[in-house]
Amino acid sequence: MEKQEMMYEGKAKQVYATDDPDRVIIHYKDDATAFNGLKKDSIRNKGVLNNKITTILFNELNRRGIATHWIETLNDRDQLCKKVRIVPLEVIVRNVVAGSMAKKFGIDEGTELKTPVYEICYKNDELGDPMINDTHAVGLGLATREELDQIYEITAQVNEALKEILDQIGIRLIDFKLEFGKDSTGRVLLADEISPDTCRFWEKGTDKKLDKDRFRRDMGDVIGAYEEIYGRLSQWVNTK
Ligand code: C5P
Repeated sequence: MEKQEMMYEGKAKQVYATDDPDRVIIHYKDDATAFNGLKKDSIRNKGVLNNKITTILFNELNRRGIATHWIETLNDRDQLCKKVRIVPLEVIVRNVVAGSMAKKFGIDEGTELKTPVYEICYKNDELGDPMINDTHAVGLGLATREELDQIYEITAQVNEALKEILDQIGIRLIDFKLEFGKDSTGRVLLADEISPDTCRFWEKGTDKKLDKDRFRRDMGDVIGAYEEIYGRLSQWVNTK
């Protein structure tokens, strides 16, 4: 598959056209940003680890019948994916209170939620991805009611699958963010990535943070945390 012109560049990834109109190549960069781009750095090898972690998780989700954009991983930084039109929503799932939810409601980080909480945000950097509700999403034409229903259904399946996988490697899934896209037939697919950039992962027993909060909060050893997640997941793949 030929990598052609760059179609889009985001904070952590680039998307390239290919010679197949229904396929793109997604390139994982080392750039790290937080607080809507206010804090920036480059973390050596982060792109490689996020590519590998996303590969293991998307491959497993595909295997379990959850439709994702991922087709195959080509090398350390590139994935071949189905071309989709991204639905301009960020879907956040919370199993345990942390981050912006802890702040907004004045609740301690680490408080277990009785049931998972779903939040949707309008994906717009200039506005800082404001939280919206379903009627905003449908009323603004960001997604149809049917598409939202499908998105929530896939989101619930992804949460169950990820919690189960991560539990096996001694990791608690605190919260995470998903993005969805529609292929040329209008089918809703899970897109983007699932990595320590987009999830909160706490080590079971110690609650050590093994995710991007180490960068956001200047906790040190960011790459060590990403390596730890990849190491546990690759061992899991080899033993299952
Ligand atoms: O910041 P907040 O607590 O709302 O983040 C919730 C979850 O969503 C975290 O796992 C965070 O990494 C993820 N997230 C993300 N991209 C954003 C906002 C949040 O990956 N733009």
